[in-house]
Amino acid sequence: LSLPEILLKKRSGEELLNEELNYFIECVCKNEIDRSQIGAMLMAFCLRGLTTQETVTLTKSMMNSGTVQKWDPSWKTVDKHSTGGVGDKVTFPLVAAVPLFGLKMPMVAGRGLGHTGGTADKLESIPGFQIGLTEDHMRRSLEEVGCYVTTQFGNIAPADKTLYSIRDITSTVSYPPLICSSIMSKKLSEGLGSLVLDVKTGVGSVTGSLEQAEGLARMMVDIGAGMGVETTAVLTEMDTPIGYTIGNSLEIIESLECIKGQGPTDLENITCVQGAVLLCGAGVASSQEEGEEMIRKTFKDGSALEMFLRILENQGVKKETLDFLKSGEYDKVFSTAKYVETVTTEKSGAIEAVNALALGKATVLLGGGRQLPGDVIEPAAGIKLLRTKGDKVEEGDILAEIHHDGRLSPALRTRIEDAFTIGENDKPIKRVLSVVKAGR
Ligand code: URA
Repeated sequence: LSLPEILLKKRSGEELLNEELNYFIECVCKNEIDRSQIGAMLMAFCLRGLTTQETVTLTKSMMNSGTVQKWDPSWKTVDKHSTGGVGDKVTFPLVAAVPLFGLKMPMVAGRGLGHTGGTADKLESIPGFQIGLTEDHMRRSLEEVGCYVTTQFGNIAPADKTLYSIRDITSTVSYPPLICSSIMSKKLSEGLGSLVLDVKTGVGSVTGSLEQAEGLARMMVDIGAGMGVETTAVLTEMDTPIGYTIGNSLEIIESLECIKGQGPTDLENITCVQGAVLLCGAGVASSQEEGEEMIRKTFKDGSALEMFLRILENQGVKKETLDFLKSGEYDKVFSTAKYVETVTTEKSGAIEAVNALALGKATVLLGGGRQLPGDVIEPAAGIKLLRTKGDKVEEGDILAEIHHDGRLSPALRTRIEDAFTIGENDKPIKRVLSVVKAGR
């Protein structure tokens, strides 16, 4: 097999054979390929398209490029993955609730990507939290706690790691079969029984229109099911940030409030919907409604808080920090931003839109995300909404706080102000749009 010949075949629009795609991934992993060839192949995939068969082969090959976990067959292993959003902190209340029902969550989480935040970065804003775990620590975590959250390091789908870094700089991120193979290769390597996918649609998503998001959801669900993992996708709105906070430590604080039963309604609702999908899939809940109530109850009765603190403790967070998180003395744990400035409205009416893409990009520029791979994140930087879509406002009301360390330029302030559309329509956010299951 020859890489230039495979490249020419794809460039001409022909379907590649399994062995050709496997060879490409093998070369990527062994470093026996030039980065220009990887870039060319990715661009050819995007321009000429990948068939379903090619997408399945690529996903499997990427998954098998690293370790595929094998757990105790009696365990009910589950996980969730989001295609990426702004203010998306659903993972935290979800991992606090789901393991309480005996389910095991071996979670591989990502870093921030473009304007979207990353679970790993958010957790690292908690002093002491260790995101990279050894194989032995992972196994013990599942046995003793029921959950761990690690990053994609070492031998977890290494082919995706290389391809991803090249997609990021060749404008080949947003092609659905590549998103699908990237996400599913990582998730299927976790050794799961069931998986819930949060597929975002809207201006703040990487997936685009509802139609495109549905197509991606169907593709991932079918691949998951084809590989024996019960996979369900929940399509959710990502025009508006989730909850009221964007930025690493701000989001952790809001998540803790949700875990304590005092969080924003939309965050709690999405978490309950996704948690219920997993409880039903594992046979622990008999209906979606029952599952949602079971999850909601853990936020009210304190059990989710105890579980979340156990997960943090198991990954290095000290007892004193945990006590402050429990009591809500967040300022004793997180450093606060040097400056907090406000955005006010000059108009009365109702908030018709809060542009998630604009606020996600602004948060990156405030230091809450990376512009270059090696950038250091400023955990306290971000935006706290005081009002959101659907709220009525009066002239002079504060819409948001901007938390920063001196990086707020006048132009950036204008971009944040322009993210709010004030009009007459007070229609509230509808987060959960539809559910896609295998074979339907
Ligand atoms: N998340 C991933 O892990 N990969 C993608 O391609 C997009 C979102």
